[in-house]
Amino acid sequence: MKKITIAIDGFSSTGKSTLAKQLAKHLGYVYVDTGAMYRAVTFYAMQNGYVSEEHLNKEALINDLPNINLQFQFNDNLGFAEMYVNGKNVEKEIRTLDVSRCVSQVAEISEVRSKLVASQQEMGKNKAIVMDGRDIGTVVFPEAELKIFMNSSAQTRAERRFNELIEKGQHVTYEEVLQNVQERDYIDTHREDSPLVKADDAIEIDNSAMSKQEQFDLVMDLVGERV
Ligand code: DC
Repeated sequence: MKKITIAIDGFSSTGKSTLAKQLAKHLGYVYVDTGAMYRAVTFYAMQNGYVSEEHLNKEALINDLPNINLQFQFNDNLGFAEMYVNGKNVEKEIRTLDVSRCVSQVAEISEVRSKLVASQQEMGKNKAIVMDGRDIGTVVFPEAELKIFMNSSAQTRAERRFNELIEKGQHVTYEEVLQNVQERDYIDTHREDSPLVKADDAIEIDNSAMSKQEQFDLVMDLVGERV
């Protein structure tokens, strides 16, 4: 069977990673969560005082970029790869609302984007990869054989993210999660470098009223036409 590249882009909390993980597992492909990479750089920047909700020291972060070593390590028990920064597992830390509140500012920086895009292209050079993010079909792999663009209403997405955070024991309200989702939508679609936009040849899926299984079956049909 032909190995292909699958690019999944879309707004935050549209279930991109759930779908990407299902596909990767089924096809025996590598899954790369590029949002985790932007979150990891953000967490590092927060720890070093380069970014907070109120301020961003862009120059200091850019100067320190060569010292940020990102790595994915597969965890057999969890069935997916966890994010490491300079050898430390940060999988839990990068999923907090605090990181979500700062990540869009960091993802706007072109120097951050070029570093991460280069490493994503390296990971996908042999195909057989499912990558999710905001610019995968437009910038990272414009030649991907299958591009999916996922969407659903801000309310549906905030509800999903809120439930996830509560399950993880975090203290958040639905209103603050919704506000964060809407703010990130705005920044992600309006930034100058690689804004979130549907690639011309991407297939759009609105999954507001779709089960995970229906969505998976639909995408597997599209994969079947390409392998
Ligand atoms: O998918 P996520 O919510 O974990 O992504 C976190 C943030 O990272 C998101 O608000 C925008 C940014 N991001 C990006 O700019 N480009 C990507 N390829 C992936 C994520």
